[in-house]
Amino acid sequence: MKILFIGDIVGSPGRAAVKAVVPRLREKYGLDMVIANAENSAGGSGITPRTARDLFQSHCDVLTSGDHVWRRPEVIELLNKEANILRPANFPKVTPGRGSVVFKTGKGLKVGVLCLLGKVFVEAMVDSPFRSAQEEVASLRQETPMVIVDMHAEATSEKVAMGWFLDGEVSAVVGTHTHIQTADERILPHGTAYITDVGMTGPYDSVIGRKKDKIIERFLTGMPTRFELGTEDVALCGVVLEIDEKTGKALSIERIWEKVETDVASDEEA
Ligand SMILES: [Fe+2]
Ligand SMILES: [Fe+2]
Repeated sequence: MKILFIGDIVGSPGRAAVKAVVPRLREKYGLDMVIANAENSAGGSGITPRTARDLFQSHCDVLTSGDHVWRRPEVIELLNKEANILRPANFPKVTPGRGSVVFKTGKGLKVGVLCLLGKVFVEAMVDSPFRSAQEEVASLRQETPMVIVDMHAEATSEKVAMGWFLDGEVSAVVGTHTHIQTADERILPHGTAYITDVGMTGPYDSVIGRKKDKIIERFLTGMPTRFELGTEDVALCGVVLEIDEKTGKALSIERIWEKVETDVASDEEA
């Protein structure tokens, strides 16, 4: 079982990268499934019906999110009706949508996907991602040994701790949110693939997706500035995971950083 996990897709440049790169990765790796973090897919923050549709049309099967999930009000209806778009599972149970799903691939294989949000340096009223993971993983594993966890968090320590916590319990713990790919991918001793951050899918001539001049001005002056999306040097970042279908153990994890040839115009609206 080969799964592509795509890191934080930023605005229309990120969506264009997914559209351009996923078909060639599908061919190269023989992918069975694509999971993508879409929390920045709408103008750099949030998810809308249009951005979700774009990504599903570009062969994404399950979309995860994070701290920016509530940014667009339209997301509430989307989460209520679309089981394959996840909010972090550790938001209180009364919030719309769900934090995990069991997806059935074209070959009829079941893969559990769980979305978690870290608490360290993150402004969100969430419960412990560790306690939430314990509960969610136990219920997903009743259906399938293959479980992929998106640990959307700021602190490397919290992500590393989650990897160790779930080692042997899930197929992979992949980090998102920082938009910077880390080079620490490995398979932990009990068979869980791990990486601290898979990186951003979007414009790299930027500061984590936003035009660099405005960000530098903000750091220089401390004054609020209006951030705009970057447009140039667009790439898709992620990992390809190979998983044993019977045991759910990871066989390999490979980092992906695929440049897109043409620059794409940013689209603030969506
Ligand atoms: Fe985030
Ligand atoms: Fe993000």
